[in-house]
This record gives sequence, structure tokens and C-alpha cells, in this order.
Amino acid sequence: MTSLLNESSHIQYKAEGYLGPFKILNATECEDLLKAIHFPHLVQTWYKSGHEKSKRIIDVANNPKLVSIVSGLIGDDILLWGSIFIVQSRFMKHDLHLDVEHGKWKGVTLWLGLRNLEETEVFIITRSHLLPITPQELSKQGVDISNDQEMLRIAQSYDSKCELKYFRIQPGELVLWEGKTWHGTINHGNLDRVALILQYSPTSEKTFIPKTYSYPDTEWEENIFPPCILINGKDDFKLNNLMNPKKIGSLLDYLDTYYKLYKKGAAKNIIINMIKSDLKNQFQTY
Ligand SMILES: [Fe+2]
Repeated sequence: MTSLLNESSHIQYKAEGYLGPFKILNATECEDLLKAIHFPHLVQTWYKSGHEKSKRIIDVANNPKLVSIVSGLIGDDILLWGSIFIVQSRFMKHDLHLDVEHGKWKGVTLWLGLRNLEETEVFIITRSHLLPITPQELSKQGVDISNDQEMLRIAQSYDSKCELKYFRIQPGELVLWEGKTWHGTINHGNLDRVALILQYSPTSEKTFIPKTYSYPDTEWEENIFPPCILINGKDDFKLNNLMNPKKIGSLLDYLDTYYKLYKKGAAKNIIINMIKSDLKNQFQTY
């Protein structure tokens, strides 16, 4: 696939660990995607598995511009293993951290802004994907990882070119980073902010579900694995739990969802409201 990225983008990504923002969706497309947000996590294999049931998330993950960018970074054979809507409550901060999954295998994380972004920021420490230490390890050493300037100072003690970089994202824009990059978010405003995280890896990587979020001594599920979608190219490695994306969003899939919800003890009125909503939207709610 011909990538939209030029040579300087590749150099920046390799050295700095991030790219963007890029505009991917218009306002109408953002609102349409947000219809999928109420899908109950109860029926997903794990919490980062929004694509397991949502045709809308898969459609966005397959966005040609986005796939072109990702293939330019990790190659043509691409798996989507993680997707989740993140609602960040007002005045909340998510401190700098490493996603433990990308501490174990290679990949790229995309952060797509959707709603109430005016007073929110995504921040990263550039070049941190190459550092021999992580926020989780620093936290264990007693470092206050909520102190961004202190975290920057420590990062710079390893690599003086590290910078603390803040992004103001518009709805429909995404910023992406090499999976090991230290990142955080903050909502200064009084409205709940919504973003969609998409996480991709080459098919040569084997993916897992974390049981704990400590690092590097993360514990992993041994018998269940992330449902993955082959977004582009081919899977010669057969290491992962690949789903058939055509089944997702079908009537059978919805019936399976309701059945699982019922078996897991969801309240009948919730299930009935979901069915009503699906009927109204011709099974296009998610
Ligand atoms: Fe994260």
C-alpha cells in the first residue's frame, strides 16, 4: 500500500515517537460513531474490545486515510487488537503511563478526539518510547508520576532531547504514538470528554489480555486472547484470535449479544431497550 506519509514523517515517528494531529472524520461522522458508545462491555471478551461488536468502530478502523498512515508505520499486514471509547470526566487527569500491552509487543496507538475537546489535552513525552525506564517503574521507585515536569526531568536525564508535548485535538482529529511512548490526558473543563482509542500491531506480533497493569511484571490471561480484526494485508503468522468482521453487526450477532447479556444477568428492561433501539435504527446502533 502506498502510504500518505513522507520521509520526514517516518524519521519523526522513529525518533520522536509520535505523529499528527491528522483530520480523519468530519463532525457528522464523529456523531455517527458516538452512537456506538453505549454498547455494554459485558458482552465483550475484555474492555478494549469495542470492535468485537461494533461495526461502526471497525468502519473507522478501516478508514483508508488512517490505514494508509498505519501501514506506513508498521507495514501492510495490520491487526486491530484494541479499541475503546474513553470518557474522561470533568477535571480529571490520567497521568503519564506506558500501555502495558505495547510494553510486551510492538504496535501503534491512535487517539481520536470525538466530543468536548475544547478544554482537554493529550500529552506525551517525546522520544520516551526509546527510554530504558517506564512511568510504572518510576512509580514503584517512589516518583510522583502525576508531576509532569518531574517526569520530564527524569526522561531528560536519559535523553536530553525529550520534550513534554501537549496536543489540543479537534473532533475528528487523531494523534498517534509508537506504542511504548509515555502518554497521559487531562480534562480542564467541566464537560465529559470522549475519545476513541485504536491500537494496531503487525500480524507478526502475538497479543494478550493483561490481568494486572504493573510493568514489567505484568500478569497475562493464559486462556483468553484479544479478538483481533485483520485490517489490511494478510496474516501469515496465525498467532492471534482473528474474528470474521463480516459477522459483526449482523442480526445473528445481535441475537448472540442479547443472549449473552441475558445469561450474564443483565436487567430485562436494558435488553428490551437495546432491542427497541436496534429495531428503530435497523440494527445499525453499534
Ligand atoms: Fe494509555
